Amino acid sequence: MPDAPAPIRFILDGEDMLVEDAPASTTVLQYLREHLGRCASKEGCAEGDCGACTVVLGELDAAGTLQYRPVNACIRFLASVDGREVVTVDGLAQPDGTLHPVQQAMVDAHASQCGFCTPGFVMSLFGLWLQNPCPDRESVLEALSGNLCRCTGYRPIVDAALRMGGYPPPAHWPRTDACDPERRTRIQRVQREHSLVRPGWQAPRTLDELAQALEQSPEALLLAGATDVALWSNKHLQTLPEMIWLGEVTELRQVHCDERSLSIGAAVSLAEAYRAITTHWPTLSELALRFASPPVRHSGTLCGNIGNGSPIGDSMPWLLALDAHLVLRKGPRERVVPLDAFYTGYRQNSLERGEFIQAVRIPLPEPGQLLACYKFSRRFEQDISAVCAALSVSVHEGRIRAVRIAYGGMAATPARAINAEQALVGQSFCRTSFEQAMQALESDFSPLSDHRAGRDYRKRVAAHALLRFWLEHGEPTSAIRIEDVSAA
Ligand code: FAD
Ligand code: FES
Ligand code: FES
Repeated sequence: MPDAPAPIRFILDGEDMLVEDAPASTTVLQYLREHLGRCASKEGCAEGDCGACTVVLGELDAAGTLQYRPVNACIRFLASVDGREVVTVDGLAQPDGTLHPVQQAMVDAHASQCGFCTPGFVMSLFGLWLQNPCPDRESVLEALSGNLCRCTGYRPIVDAALRMGGYPPPAHWPRTDACDPERRTRIQRVQREHSLVRPGWQAPRTLDELAQALEQSPEALLLAGATDVALWSNKHLQTLPEMIWLGEVTELRQVHCDERSLSIGAAVSLAEAYRAITTHWPTLSELALRFASPPVRHSGTLCGNIGNGSPIGDSMPWLLALDAHLVLRKGPRERVVPLDAFYTGYRQNSLERGEFIQAVRIPLPEPGQLLACYKFSRRFEQDISAVCAALSVSVHEGRIRAVRIAYGGMAATPARAINAEQALVGQSFCRTSFEQAMQALESDFSPLSDHRAGRDYRKRVAAHALLRFWLEHGEPTSAIRIEDVSAA
């Protein structure tokens, strides 16, 4: 690795940027607004929740394809856009002032009132327009699920999205990588071949370099998508230690699948990880849609969710139910541990100093194996779970051959429900078995009351997740009673 501090190089709305003086914890939004005075991107919450700061990030993916994705500028560190392109709402109109189709559609549909949220909506829609200028309503709602508007209401904004494909495409924004070789060439030009080393920030480019950097600085903070970490500085005003970013490590940006398992590298985004997982486990599709919002899912990673280890994180219940394993790396040594043995206490894990998660291995479905995951939160999307339940049940000739049940929100760590599992295994696959498991679950957990949910509510929904599983997978539809549906 070179020793001299390197400037951050990126493209901002078509302009080459060279930044030498920004502290490592400067976010893209702070840089835009406070250093450059470009205030079109707004700050609503500074924690990834409202979408007012949304920008579109252009980068080459692991396969070398140029991808443009909305991200939250308020929780994205500037150094992590090195070698990439940032498009803000300032960069959409043509040089002669002609509005981009997305902007014109917003005007024509009367979709902006106070305008504070508008730049973020426009950028989320611009990200969608690049994928598909004529989306259906469901895709529009998904694309906008990370944007909040407190005044016009969403109907005219959705109307704008549904009509944006009707305008002529702007000459300066061809929609695909293939149509725009010049853009790709520019990104390739600002990409660096060597690791980035700046005060407070290292971005190694290979797995060996990363392992070496962390072994040499075990007190450094390993950073993936920063969708948890950025809040520590933005909201909790912590001074962050030196950060080692794994977003440039090619080996960690890979998804591999063999005949037994899917392996997701530590730098693979949540969006990409859940896309791969749901092709094998389609019952996780609803959770994938309800995990945060598209901009958070484009930056955050699955391994960051595991590394953060929040007891209310959404991925751990189903990973535990599927008996996922972690590939851990320290220096040259690799070891594989079951996720089941990873957490040792509230946000504590068994990683050694200088060790990190290299990948997570997720078993593929086996014949007769059923999986369900239920997220209980106040809002449908962009909300943290009060409780999250996952069940993997293998049924053979009418009996439960194997079962793993895990919860978030019920204990200090994501945890399995061992008593409920024991009540089910070997039993006949019938309603009575699940009712017995609901009783056994009583002794599995003693959850807390907090601002998300009370203890009794948590216990009740956790038990009813078991009944719901039976109703969805076992009960003949004609036998479902209305009180079951409302209870589950
Ligand atoms: P980072 O913030 O980069 O890191 C988080 C922690 O994990 C740090 O301690 C870091 O050192 C450690 N870490 C990261 N990678 C590794 C590794 N490879 N090895 C060891 N340690 C590692 N979470 C949910 O579960 N469900 C939600 O619905 C949800 N909604 C959210 C909504 C918003 C608006 C925001 C801002 C966050 C939300 N989150 C949610 C939390 C967050 O997005 C996830 O936890 C995400 O998966 C974190 O990944 P990251 O890559 O951003 O981690
Ligand atoms: Fe609210 Fe960034 S300012 S998401
Ligand atoms: Fe005012 Fe959206 S137009 S918050």
